[in-house]
Amino acid sequence: MSNTFKALRAELESEELTIKITEIELENLPDGDTTVEVHYSSLNYKDGMAVNGNKARIMRNLPMSPGIDLAGIVSSTSNNNFKKGDEVIVTGWGLGETHSGGYSQIVRVNSDWLIKKPNNISLKHSMSVGTAGLTAMLSVIELEKSGITNSSGEIVVTGAAGGVGSLSIMLLNKLGYSITAVTGRMELEGYLKDLGANNIMSRDDLLAMSRPLNSGKWAGAIDTVGSTLLANVLSAIDYGGSVACCGNASGNDLPTTVLPFILRKIQLIGIDSVYCPRNLRNDAWKRLGELITPEEFESITNEVSLSEIEKPAKLILEGKIQGRTVVNIKDI
Ligand SMILES: NC(=O)c1ccc[n+]([C@@H]2O[C@H](COP(=O)([O-])OP(=O)(O)OC[C@H]3O[C@@H](n4cnc5c(N)ncnc54)[C@H](OP(=O)(O)O)[C@@H]3O)[C@@H](O)[C@H]2O)c1
Repeated sequence: MSNTFKALRAELESEELTIKITEIELENLPDGDTTVEVHYSSLNYKDGMAVNGNKARIMRNLPMSPGIDLAGIVSSTSNNNFKKGDEVIVTGWGLGETHSGGYSQIVRVNSDWLIKKPNNISLKHSMSVGTAGLTAMLSVIELEKSGITNSSGEIVVTGAAGGVGSLSIMLLNKLGYSITAVTGRMELEGYLKDLGANNIMSRDDLLAMSRPLNSGKWAGAIDTVGSTLLANVLSAIDYGGSVACCGNASGNDLPTTVLPFILRKIQLIGIDSVYCPRNLRNDAWKRLGELITPEEFESITNEVSLSEIEKPAKLILEGKIQGRTVVNIKDI
């Protein structure tokens, strides 16, 4: 292995933030018991914030590389459960936030974070889903655990055209659910229907449903946006229904009342992909590979090289990305 590798590196030079592709020496890697040669990473909202001037201080340990997801091959490890050549996935655990991330040809990480890539999914396609797909799968699993089945009634998905929303629709459709997709981009109706949405609702129509309780329209929900949209979803969930709350694209607040909970026995379930336990992650990755075919992964994937990341990283902050962006790290 060469003593140097390339990475997108953020650092402070005379208090000025610079983010550029840099040649780095192996000895500058952070601590960790495992070294991984990264093949692919992905673009998530947090990565958009990191690449665009480290907004909201996503990267908290400069100098470091952004990238909250990676898929690659173990090149050395002191953990007996892994060996050189293993194909692995890392998402969460502070990767790209407190620990140097996946926009780097070589990373050194803690082996507790590694997931052995299931055989039914390729390295590239694991990043077609990445953190967004893991979050969507965990949301579906939690709805199932709460007792929702595809005969319970329709499921509503908010932020439908985003990464988590699109993948949630794809997974629910595979599992035979009827789905309403809520979007601010009605022009993407065709795309959402191709993913498997049965009905499309505009964000404005959901925002207008502002009563504490509306008639029960849906058996369950996957909400990626929070705030008023989540409150209005809660107001229209049928008796005994469940809502997986996994995102805050429109805000951190939740201006709701207790009525959906005490009059309709609604469950609001929190979803976290960052510190999610290993057994749940293994199950979720295996199911993602079972449910989505290679052709379907390809259909939602737009591949860019690390040197092309700037444009999609801007678009994701403007809410203009459709589907998922995979970042090819090997061929910078
Ligand atoms: N819990 C976890 O572990 C976890 C993991 C990953 C992501 N997340 C969170 O989940 C959310 C979605 O992530 P993502 O990767 O899917 O992001 P994304 O690709 O940027 O999609 C977000 C979508 O939310 C909608 N949206 C954006 N701004 C909005 C606003 N002001 N009001 C209402 N809707 C708005 C848009 O959908 P339309 O275009 O269809 O309107 C947008 O496409 C983010 O908040 C992210 O931080 C959480």
